[in-house]
Amino acid sequence: MTKKIIAFGASNSTKSINKTLANYASKKLAKVEFELLDLNDFEMPIYSADREAESGIPELAHQFKKRIENSDGLLISFAEHNGAYSVAFKNIYDWVSRIESNVWGNRPMFLMATSPGGYGGKSVLAMAKARYERANEKEILTFSLPSFYEKYSAEKGISDENLRIAFFDLLNQFESNVLK
Ligand SMILES: Cc1cc2nc3c(=O)[nH]c(=O)nc-3n(C[C@H](O)[C@H](O)[C@H](O)COP(=O)(O)O)c2cc1C
Repeated sequence: MTKKIIAFGASNSTKSINKTLANYASKKLAKVEFELLDLNDFEMPIYSADREAESGIPELAHQFKKRIENSDGLLISFAEHNGAYSVAFKNIYDWVSRIESNVWGNRPMFLMATSPGGYGGKSVLAMAKARYERANEKEILTFSLPSFYEKYSAEKGISDENLRIAFFDLLNQFESNVLK
């Protein structure tokens, strides 16, 4: 059976550059199918212990978890807000972690981040990798694309040659990890 990955930009912006990057990467996968999620479809009240005690875990968190469980790998591009996850992503992550603390299960991951600045979201990327590798035995690859508006275009994709080569090496490695 064909393997399938879940991909999304960890942002709720309709113009999200991380969604653009996640979409671009997914379309370059030759041998695995992909499903792109939009975090706006999983918007829930801000996590609180009181809300959980009163009303339980929202159905949308269960739906998100089901999508992950039906996948063979995960490709996520993180928006960096003040050195960390976007609130839109973190809220989903927190709710889903109440179903099972290991949110992603044991699946190959390709974590990316891009931003308009020269640091390319490396802080959120490092944070995500450090957290997820505690529970996931599968390989977690990372790629940062700095200066998005200079180094990416709709026509050319990633225009910087060194970054493009590094990106495709990692994407191919991720794809073969999913196919294993
Ligand atoms: C509240 C806020 C905080 C931000 N903090 C950072 C940051 O720490 N590092 C960074 O590289 N960019 C930062 N940015 C700029 C984002 O990288 C930029 O808005 C980017 O477009 C977000 O990704 P998205 O388009 O996928 O939502 C911040 C933007 C906002 C609105």
